[in-house]
Amino acid sequence: MADMTVAYSPSHGLGEEQSIWFKLTPLLNQENPMQVLMALSDKYGGIIPINLKTQRIMLLSEPAHAERVLVSNADNYVKYFDGLRPIFGKSMITVDGALWQKIRAPQQPAFHPHMFEDYFPYLMSAIESKMARWAKFASTGETIEMVEETWTLAAEMVCKALFDREMPFNPHFVFGQVKTYTDVMNHKSLRLKNVRGQLEEITQDEAAKAMEIWGSIPDTVIGAGVLEHREKTLLRMLEEAEADPSFPEFDRQQVVDEMKQYLWAGTETTALTLAWSLYLLSQHPEALERIRAEARAVCGERDPQWQQVQQLSYTRMVIQETMRLFPPIWALIRIAAGDDEIEGHKIKAGDKVVILTYIAHHSPKYWDDPEKFDPERFAPERAKKRVKYSYLPFAAGKRACIGGALSQIENTLALVQLLRRFTPDYVGPVPAKIHATVTLCPKGGLPFRIRALS
Ligand code: HEM
Repeated sequence: MADMTVAYSPSHGLGEEQSIWFKLTPLLNQENPMQVLMALSDKYGGIIPINLKTQRIMLLSEPAHAERVLVSNADNYVKYFDGLRPIFGKSMITVDGALWQKIRAPQQPAFHPHMFEDYFPYLMSAIESKMARWAKFASTGETIEMVEETWTLAAEMVCKALFDREMPFNPHFVFGQVKTYTDVMNHKSLRLKNVRGQLEEITQDEAAKAMEIWGSIPDTVIGAGVLEHREKTLLRMLEEAEADPSFPEFDRQQVVDEMKQYLWAGTETTALTLAWSLYLLSQHPEALERIRAEARAVCGERDPQWQQVQQLSYTRMVIQETMRLFPPIWALIRIAAGDDEIEGHKIKAGDKVVILTYIAHHSPKYWDDPEKFDPERFAPERAKKRVKYSYLPFAAGKRACIGGALSQIENTLALVQLLRRFTPDYVGPVPAKIHATVTLCPKGGLPFRIRALS
């Protein structure tokens, strides 16, 4: 069993030889990395063992494996961070055991569903800024990069709703810096450059500079004008935890690191989901029209009101289906604290396990016609028949995403509002290809042109 007092999880640095991402790059650096992983999983009966000289990595792909690692024997599987420490600092996403519980407790109330109504006007206001920007794009006809667009939107939502601040930084620039770290292909090239003795210093300097910029963002946010002096915001909760004398672990750095965590984990994932859903809708205009029809039926010609959000059920199903086909977090990584056995496979203490959620999401064992875009799979009657743990966009168990429900409200509102005013036309190659970084990104981006509806 894992030591429940375990604090900061083991980690390796960017590009270090021990890094899982580094080990996986030959598999991921392929034309279609997910097809390669799915074929391997088939070949090895769902568990792909990667035996290396100094470590063993087990790639797991079945719902039963996820249940064992994330739920029934979760204490045995400790978070493992790989090159991501500078992104997340010592925030709760990186921590385990009693310390994790203690750090999560004061933040949890910000994600209680009864808070979402408070956030609603700020989410809508962020969408309005996006609509103003898209009106300009519609008039110039220029090609835009959708992930950049949706990432800006998600970041503005987090700043306004959770921190009570305007977004006081240039998200395109700042998130470009983050990508230096989370693009695992950079890990490999960094390493290769080290091996060849080339460009080592330049690359490492760049990475260090990128992380210095990233580390300064929480203070920039805190220093920006307070929007409305709301009493209950996530930022207030973090600062109250810092001020609590009985909680010395929650120091100033903890506040800064929690903010870094939200500004990345709470933005890129939501943004990728929205961008991939716009891509899918551009390929399935009938689904796009259904969203518009639903919006008209529920809201008439007015903007959605808070009480109407739950009624936008088809729009929500589109988002759920998008996260099935393109799960933003496609791999969950843990390290075994003690020995275990999963479906006859011995797991040894120190083994790293990677749950490949993408594979169960695309398996014909769990989904009819799995490559088909079919939002109706998430209609309540059909969803009831789903095999448990075959759909894990937000992971499962006690370490499941804290912001999953919020992200779905953000994206439901964004889809409804943006599609009522605009038709975003995808202008890249079809099908769009995957670039497997820590998140599931589109290879070369998702270029779009925006048309305004008359
Ligand atoms: C579509 C959107 C999102 C997806 C797909 C997603 C996915 C995930 C996943 C899979 C995990 C677990 C990672 C692991 O176990 O290794 C996670 C954790 C987390 N997510 Fe999300 N997330 C989304 C949106 C958000 C939002 C909107 C927020 C907050 C504003 C957020 C904050 C967090 C935090 C703080 C954790 C760590 C929780 C803990 O360790 O206790 N996420 N997310």
